[in-house]
Amino acid sequence: MPRLARKSSRSTSTRAETRPQARSLLGLQGIDKEVLLGLLVRARGFSLDTRPIGAPWNQSLQGRTVANLFFEDSTRTRTSFSMAAARLGAAVLEFGATTSSVSKGETLIDTALNVQAMGVDCLVVRAKQSGAASMISKAVQCAVINAGDGRHEHPTQGLLDIFTLSESFGRDDFNLKGLTIAIVGDVFSSRVARSDIAGMSALGAKIICVGPPSMAPKSMESLGCQVTGQFDEVVPKADAIMMLRVQFERYDAAPGAEKKISPIPSSREYRDGFALTPARAERMKLKAIVMHPGPMNRGLEIDAAVADGPRSVILKQAANGVFCRMAAIEWCINAH
Ligand code: NCD
Repeated sequence: MPRLARKSSRSTSTRAETRPQARSLLGLQGIDKEVLLGLLVRARGFSLDTRPIGAPWNQSLQGRTVANLFFEDSTRTRTSFSMAAARLGAAVLEFGATTSSVSKGETLIDTALNVQAMGVDCLVVRAKQSGAASMISKAVQCAVINAGDGRHEHPTQGLLDIFTLSESFGRDDFNLKGLTIAIVGDVFSSRVARSDIAGMSALGAKIICVGPPSMAPKSMESLGCQVTGQFDEVVPKADAIMMLRVQFERYDAAPGAEKKISPIPSSREYRDGFALTPARAERMKLKAIVMHPGPMNRGLEIDAAVADGPRSVILKQAANGVFCRMAAIEWCINAH
């Protein structure tokens, strides 16, 4: 499946013919390193722009429209894409699955085609099905950005995590050699983990995934990371610990049963092995940082004292997301 697809033509009339071709950003697995670095450098350029929020920023997308097509819930990613598009001067179209005709049985592709027909330049797609963004990108002519598809990928989250990591360790060239990143918890369900593993390892970082075998199976080593169940052994070795939420919604109910099967035996057991508690945080390297893509379940995978503590860069991740999404949207619409 191509991660970055260049569109051969655009559907919308004469207006489109004078414009450069659209591109899609579907994942970080197999991404060209030059493209990855180009996006990060551009994001840094945006981050150095000190104009206050509300003041007109770079207007490179004036007259363009970005549609948020979210078939699954989101807080950070959705607002971040809206903010990014607005800061580039684009109009933003908001779409929510629960308030749309998807609830009447319309397919993802029909929804996307109809929104595209209105003259949209870029669709930002989130869906619970792995591969949904890629499927939509094959059906439409405009750019598509994958904003999280099932357990597959979440490339802009990968970008913002790399950006925040580089910023925290003064790696101005985004070279992550010598850094060890622990990704802890429900790694198997996580599209964030898959994009982080791909992007961070392409830039030289060593990735160790940590979790119970059901959430961090050894088979994930084929992605280019190490896998272990021993969090306490990894804590003092990591330069960054990225905590993940237990993604309960991705575990199906047994056939015929109403209740979903819990992926963990009990919260207490899970916390004993895999929560980032203040006691574990004290054993981290002096300059090591704590990350989390959000939403956090405080008191389960991470304690409040750590999430809000001095090592935490969690809110920086949210802030940097806007710059990375500005770079991604601009690159996809090919407007830079
Ligand atoms: C994540 C997601 O939706 O994949 N959050 C995010 O986009 N910031 C992680 C999660 O839902 O746990």
